Amino acid sequence: MKGKHIVLGITGGIAAYKAAALVRLFVKAGAEVQVIMTPNAREFITPVTLSTLSGKPVITEFFTANTGEWHSHVDLGLWADAFVVAPATASTIAKMANGVADNMLVTSYLSTRAQVFVAPAMDFDMMQHPTTTRNIATLRADGCRIIEPAEGELASHLVGKGRMEEPENIFREIDDFFNLTAGMKGTKLLITAGPTYEKIDPVRFIGNYSSGKMGYAIANEAAARGADVVLVSGPVGDSLQVHPGVKLVKVESAVQMLEAAAEAFQAADIAILSAAVADYRPAREYDRKIKREKDGIESLELVKNPDIAATLGASKHPGQILVGFALETDHELDNAAEKLRRKNLDMIVLNSLRDKGAGFGVTTNKVSLIYADGRERTDFPLKTKTEVAADILDAIATMKP
Ligand code: PMT
Repeated sequence: MKGKHIVLGITGGIAAYKAAALVRLFVKAGAEVQVIMTPNAREFITPVTLSTLSGKPVITEFFTANTGEWHSHVDLGLWADAFVVAPATASTIAKMANGVADNMLVTSYLSTRAQVFVAPAMDFDMMQHPTTTRNIATLRADGCRIIEPAEGELASHLVGKGRMEEPENIFREIDDFFNLTAGMKGTKLLITAGPTYEKIDPVRFIGNYSSGKMGYAIANEAAARGADVVLVSGPVGDSLQVHPGVKLVKVESAVQMLEAAAEAFQAADIAILSAAVADYRPAREYDRKIKREKDGIESLELVKNPDIAATLGASKHPGQILVGFALETDHELDNAAEKLRRKNLDMIVLNSLRDKGAGFGVTTNKVSLIYADGRERTDFPLKTKTEVAADILDAIATMKP
C-alpha cells in the first residue's frame, strides 16, 4: 500500500461518515489519498474532515468557484492506482453503470484505468431492487470489484443487506489486491478463449456454444493484476471487453489457434487453456457454397484436430505452469483427472454441464480445481466468471512451477 495513489469517491449516504476511517487507514499505511465527493455527500460529512485526514483539498466540482481552477478528471483517473467508491449509493451505481457523467466522481471513474472497487450502501429494498441488481451486474461485467454490503440494521431501522462493509474490511480487500498485483507484475500469461470454427464451405462451419466469457474474464483479471497477457481468442461476439494490458490475437480454427498459442507459449510463464477447441474438422473445405440438390452430399468426412493442450504439455519446459479446463457431462472427476495426466497439465479446472449456471454462455460458473502435485481438490460454489477467474489465479499463485 505504501506509495499507492488512491482516489476515494464518497457519495451521499449515511455511511459516508465511515469514509473518514477509511481515509485514515490508507494514509496510515503510506498511501496518498485524493477524495472526490458528490455534492450530496457534503450533507453527510464535511470536506474539512476529509481534507484534514487526507492532507489534500477535497474535490467536488469541476471548477474551484473562486479561482476558476479546473480539476482534470483525466489526470485524476490516470493518477489512481486504485479507484474506490465507498459508500456507493444506488444513484451513483446507476450513473456509473450507464456512463451518466454529470459530476466529478463519475467523470473521473470513466477516465480511470485503475482497478475500481465499489462498496454499495443503501436500504434493503433499494439493494434488492432489480434495477440495482442489474446495475451492479453491469459494473461487475465492466471489471469493477464489488465489495458486498453486510447484513444488519439499516438507517431506516429495516434489517437486511445494505450496510456498507466496515472500513477495515474494505482496506484489507484493496491491500490484498495490491499484494496480488505485485505477485503477478511482469508475469507472462497465455490464455485461450472461445470456440473454434471449422469451415465446411464459405457459409457453414462446425463449432460450439462457447461465448469466450470465461477466458476473457481470466485475461482481464490477470491484466488487472499487472500480468502481460496474450489472449488467443476464437470467434466471439463484439460485446466482450479487453483490458488495455491484454494483447488480443484473433483466430478462427483449431489449427490457427495452435499456431498462435504455440508461439506465445515459448515466452509464457503460465498458460491457461479455456478455449473449447473443436476436436474434428471437415476433411475437405469447399471453396463455394454446397448446394443440396446439385452436390447431393449425404455425410461429411472429418479428420482429428491437433490437441493444443497436449501439444503444449509435451513441449513444456521446467518453470512453466500449464492449466487446462475440462468440460464434462458425466464421470466428471475421472475424466478431468485423465485429461490432467494425458495432457501433462499442472492443474485442471473442471466445470460440468450438469451444474445449473455453469459452462457455456452464462456469466457464472461452478468449478473444481484439480492439481497434478497431489494436493487435495478445491470445490467452489457458483460464482461470477470474474470471481472464478480470481480463484484460478489465486490458486496458480500457490503453485510451484
Ligand atoms: O466460453 P464460455 O461460454 O464462457 O464457456 C466457458 C467454457 C465452458 C468453454 C470453459 O469453462 C471450458 O470448459 N473450456 C474447455 C472446453 C473444452 O473443450 O473442454 P475439453 O474437456 O474438451 O478439453 C480439455 C482441455 O483441452 C481444455 O483446456 C481445452 O482447451 C483443451 N483442448 C481440447 C481439445 C483440443 N483439440 N485442443 C485443446 O487444447
